[in-house]
Amino acid sequence: MTESDSVFSGSIPEIYDTYLVPLIFESFAEDLAERVAALSPKSVLETAAGSGVVTRALAPRIRSAERYVVTDLNPEMLNHASGEQDPQHRIAWRQADALELPFDDDSFDAVCCQFGVMFFPDRVAGYAEARRVLKPGGRFVFNVWDRIEANEFAKLVHDAAAETFPDDPPQFLARTPYGYHDLAIVEQELREANFTQVSVVTVQETSRAPSPRHPAVALCHGTPLRNEIELRGENGLDVVTDRATEAIARRYGAGHVAGRIQAHVIVAAP
Ligand SMILES: C[S@@+](CC[C@H](N)C(=O)[O-])C[C@H]1O[C@@H](n2cnc3c(N)ncnc32)[C@H](O)[C@@H]1O
Repeated sequence: MTESDSVFSGSIPEIYDTYLVPLIFESFAEDLAERVAALSPKSVLETAAGSGVVTRALAPRIRSAERYVVTDLNPEMLNHASGEQDPQHRIAWRQADALELPFDDDSFDAVCCQFGVMFFPDRVAGYAEARRVLKPGGRFVFNVWDRIEANEFAKLVHDAAAETFPDDPPQFLARTPYGYHDLAIVEQELREANFTQVSVVTVQETSRAPSPRHPAVALCHGTPLRNEIELRGENGLDVVTDRATEAIARRYGAGHVAGRIQAHVIVAAP
């Protein structure tokens, strides 16, 4: 991982929430919120909450919870999230690095994190922090994307970026969001952080968009792939977006498009 992989700022939060969230995050947010709510937690911590798609799904499901604290490393993502949230839900927003949580030991019944752990520079340290703030009997519920080949639009965008810059291909998508899918490694790292029970389920969904350009813009402009492309030249972003749009249109047609997305959902207990 490079430092720019975790930089969700500038125009990224807005494009991320408008384009990318409905495309690939919303259905998994419903799934994660359902699993957390089923635990009937009285206190919940969400880490790497981004623009708040899980928060919007979970808050109404845990109305009787006493405490719901929502955190992210990047204040710009968190500002976007809090602006989109129904004020009737009592949520405490706090900027926080998931590797250095500003909470006491044994504070929460559940910690949840959607598609965030791939961005942690040290996964075992991040898991150990989740473990530390969990109460005895608590649960850490999170998800990670499966390999990029199982996430079809992302693979086509990744390939379009590589074809545009063959001597120095941008690797963000394959390296970070889609780079942590080996379940043996996930389980081993959780055990190193002193989680003793780990269960995993693989969930497949369909990602739908009104046009082939939509996923191309979402992934090129609304993620840190943008930072990598912009470093390689002035009009690179337009070239990669056009090339990715053409590749998606060739595979799925020029109108509405639908592609497979797949992720692993993990529940870990101390
Ligand atoms: C792919 S986004 C997922 C956001 C959100 N959970 C969602 O489902 O849309 C990854 C998020 O991880 C956050 N992040 C990256 N490194 C982090 C860290 N060390 N601690 C907390 N959040 C982090 C980023 O700011 C970004 O919002």
